[in-house]
Amino acid sequence: MAEEDYKVWLEAVCRPGVCLEESQKAYRDWASTYDEDAEKYKYDINSIKIASILKDYFQEGERGNVRILDVGAGTGLVAKQLKKYGFEHIDALEPSEDMLNEARKNNLYENYFVEFISGTPSSLPANSYDVLTGGGIYATEAHVPAEAILEMIRLVKPGGVIILVGSYTYIRTSKNYDDLEPLMGRLEVEGKWKKLIHEIWTAESAGSTTVERITCCYRVI
Ligand SMILES: C[S@@+](CC[C@H](N)C(=O)[O-])C[C@H]1O[C@@H](n2cnc3c(N)ncnc32)[C@H](O)[C@@H]1O
Repeated sequence: MAEEDYKVWLEAVCRPGVCLEESQKAYRDWASTYDEDAEKYKYDINSIKIASILKDYFQEGERGNVRILDVGAGTGLVAKQLKKYGFEHIDALEPSEDMLNEARKNNLYENYFVEFISGTPSSLPANSYDVLTGGGIYATEAHVPAEAILEMIRLVKPGGVIILVGSYTYIRTSKNYDDLEPLMGRLEVEGKWKKLIHEIWTAESAGSTTVERITCCYRVI
């Protein structure tokens, strides 16, 4: 596939003004070739970064006991990377059945929760996970809303870790995320979580000339 075609998919899932239904339909159509494209155009860099950070937070011997929720799990790129380091108990929360079906083919998750995360409580009980991950879950439109941070914190046990890696270009340019970083800061002041990493990578280090990326990693209090 030419890089131009990849950009067509990105447009389809998150161009300015796209509605949720259109974006989800695009993920349905993209699902079967998503992994191939992600690898080819280095979109899997989000999942690689998440796994490389988490492996340093847990000793090899304890990784098999860590309970992880992967939000916006898609086809399972994050789980694929985490499994390389011995993390085994990973659940997926993702609205697209077709994206999840790709993950199911590779047996990547223990439980599959087909739903959207938002600022209000999901169907999952509070304090369920040691770690919550999100790779590429913020985009111009029709993706995870800023206020979903509150639900992420609810789902993670005190002392657990939330790690989000994705495009900073989207966060910087989309009105939907005007409150994302201020909210992250306020939640720290309110004692809900503590910053471990909040880092914007240069375009060069992200392996891309056009996309800046961000790593946000917090410990829930
Ligand atoms: C760009 S994909 C990233 C998938 C995967 N994490 C990865 O690293 O390849 C974004 C995913 O977020 C999902 N998504 C969109 N809105 C969501 C929401 N409110 N809650 C959870 N997932 C959502 C989409 O269906 C899509 O699968």
